[in-house]
Amino acid sequence: MPASKHFPPDPASPGRRLEGKVAIVTGAGSRGPGIGNGRAAAICFARAGARVLLVDRDIDAAQETLAMIDAEGGEALTHQADVTTLEDCQAMVQAALDRWQHVDVLHNNVGISGRGTVVETDLDDWNRVLNINVTGMMLASKATIPAMTASGGGSIINISSIAAMRARGLTPYTTSKGAVIALTKAMAVDHGRDGIRVNCIAPGPVYTPMVGAGGEMPADLRERRRLASVLEIEGSGWDIGYAALFLASDEARYITGVVLPVDGGVLLRGPAR
Ligand SMILES: NC(=O)c1ccc[n+]([C@@H]2O[C@H](COP(=O)([O-])OP(=O)(O)OC[C@H]3O[C@@H](n4cnc5c(N)ncnc54)[C@H](O)[C@@H]3O)[C@@H](O)[C@H]2O)c1
Repeated sequence: MPASKHFPPDPASPGRRLEGKVAIVTGAGSRGPGIGNGRAAAICFARAGARVLLVDRDIDAAQETLAMIDAEGGEALTHQADVTTLEDCQAMVQAALDRWQHVDVLHNNVGISGRGTVVETDLDDWNRVLNINVTGMMLASKATIPAMTASGGGSIINISSIAAMRARGLTPYTTSKGAVIALTKAMAVDHGRDGIRVNCIAPGPVYTPMVGAGGEMPADLRERRRLASVLEIEGSGWDIGYAALFLASDEARYITGVVLPVDGGVLLRGPAR
């Protein structure tokens, strides 16, 4: 497969598509070294000219993303918050307003995995996955939408997963990511008149610190994930970041309520090969 001249992103030619916009990215750190989906989106936004509030429960992880953005001359600020708490979400929005006076983009990236069947799943684990993956997005949106409406509208991007459409033994996770799709559509209808677009990205098996556990995923599993794509390439956090950049930008001004799989075509075929 020939290398694409647009991959990985070139900091020397960023294309300032978000110039003047303020973006909040939740889960903007990464759980390990490397580039997760939230970190990639934050960097893509900053390269495109946005000022970015890097929100994470783990402030050190957000700080690492900030260092990467700083090194490229971008503008960002870290903010510690747990998105499952309304007060934290409200303080997060206030931090963006205090610094930059408006909010134009909310990238709802926080999400955790949850394995097992309903029989195997412990109720506390079930509630934890739904609370972080669904209620967290609801609360971050609830806190942000009034400010976004006041500044004339904006773009909200929710991170789902193809696991919502192709179940595979991750029932709490699949359920939560299905709810993210429904939440996206409901919010798109509720807030369209306020000029707020709400879309959803469903990543496929991209290789990030979330799945790599610090790069320790067995090579054969990593290879199977690569071959699940009809393109037979391995996806990365950048693929999700680029998709988010498009949905955040005014180029997507006529797009709302959609679910965009970013999966190299994994959903197009059956699991066996
Ligand atoms: N990597 C994949 O293959 C894949 C596939 C489909 C979907 N996704 C989705 O992508 C998103 C995560 O991507 P990532 O690569 O950035 O993950 P990541 O785990 O590397 O980073 C997520 C960040 O969120 C933070 N976080 C967790 N709970 C939080 C909370 N309650 N409040 C604030 N911050 C919190 C963590 O500290 C972490 O830094 C999730 O929604 C996940 O479900 C990933």
